[in-house]
Amino acid sequence: MVAGSPLRTIEVALASNPYTVRIGEGALEALGGLLEERGCAAGTQVLLVTNPEVDHHYGARVLASLQRHGFHTTRLVIAAGEEQKTLATVSQIHDAAYAQRLERRSLVVALGGGVVGDMAGFAAATWLRGIPVVQVPTTLLAMVDAAIGGKTGVNHPGGKNLIGAFHQPELVLVDPATLTTLPEREFRAGMAEVIKYGVIGDPILFADLESAADLSSLEAIGPARLQRLLQRSAAAKARVVAADEREGGLRAILNYGHTLGHVVETLCGYGTVIHGEAVAMGMEAVGQLALAMGLWKAADQERQRAVIAKAGLPLVLPPLDVEAAMQTLQSDKKVNQGQLRFVLPTGIGHVVIRNDVDPALIRQLLAGSL
Ligand code: NAD
Ligand code: GLY
Repeated sequence: MVAGSPLRTIEVALASNPYTVRIGEGALEALGGLLEERGCAAGTQVLLVTNPEVDHHYGARVLASLQRHGFHTTRLVIAAGEEQKTLATVSQIHDAAYAQRLERRSLVVALGGGVVGDMAGFAAATWLRGIPVVQVPTTLLAMVDAAIGGKTGVNHPGGKNLIGAFHQPELVLVDPATLTTLPEREFRAGMAEVIKYGVIGDPILFADLESAADLSSLEAIGPARLQRLLQRSAAAKARVVAADEREGGLRAILNYGHTLGHVVETLCGYGTVIHGEAVAMGMEAVGQLALAMGLWKAADQERQRAVIAKAGLPLVLPPLDVEAAMQTLQSDKKVNQGQLRFVLPTGIGHVVIRNDVDPALIRQLLAGSL
């Protein structure tokens, strides 16, 4: 994509509140105009929520775009980091909403990664029982996953994302140029979610990943492949969300690699292993489970492993206290009537949801002896 090129559009075709994901360089500058096109009147109150690093790079550009179109803006900078993803931080957003007298027609703009997006989205979902939010993701992970689909929320000491609400955004605006300042470790973490879409349902996307020599940095991937990966990933997420907005069934496939990934994040301490890294380990681990259960072929496990490794992501679960891990698994949102639910691969582009995985097998996996 080149500066000034038109924004690509992916539809999130929900029955009640459809919206679009717009992708392209220059998207940040387009925000004010896009909101005006959507009927937001000049003078509308907009609360921009971001964190210090993202604000430093992009806050002023987003505010300028909003102000050019007559919006009344306030900026709230919250502390960065997964450990800040708490109700206390959401309270700060509510306090700012109160101070600015945000009304039902006011708007929250979330500028940042998944942490900012999940919390700003949750604050918007709960302020006055729900005001609109626009997601402007600035990490690869948030661009392809967190910003799309309306899951918002915070962590509880007992587990990740246990407190939350579904609250679909009005618009998702992706400017790939923001990835130039993203630390490489965070970029690689986002690649884990891109790989996920390939394995759970898009063999063409997976083949694109396989054909790359190196997936570990923005430079290695290059602008053309990045554009394809962003569009195919956003489209993959949009399809699943449109088919099952509230995770009554199909949407659970998006949790591929996440069930064990959440255990790693929770037990290792947030920030030690970051979300995408934990998902990468989780995908390798459920691949091993699927192999042990005779659900998928060793050759496919090897293909998945090769792509994860090419993205510079970790494969091996860290040493875990098996009983603590089993307990964390039991407190996961995805537990259904005490039964653990796993998304298991059956081929590249195909997964199944199973709640009958033998706990003894899971213990073996967690102990590193499967
Ligand atoms: P993050 O939001 O913590 O961002 C990672 C780091 O990158 C932060 O330090 C941030 O300040 C920095 N950063 C962000 N954009 C930058 C940029 N362009 N330049 C420089 N630095 C930048 O991490 P994340 O990986 O984006 O999100 C992880 C969170 O997303 C987790 O809390 C996870 O639970 C959540 N998540 C939610 C969903 C969902 O559907 N809602 C899906 C997946 C993940
Ligand atoms: N990231 C999982 C989901 O959005 O459902």
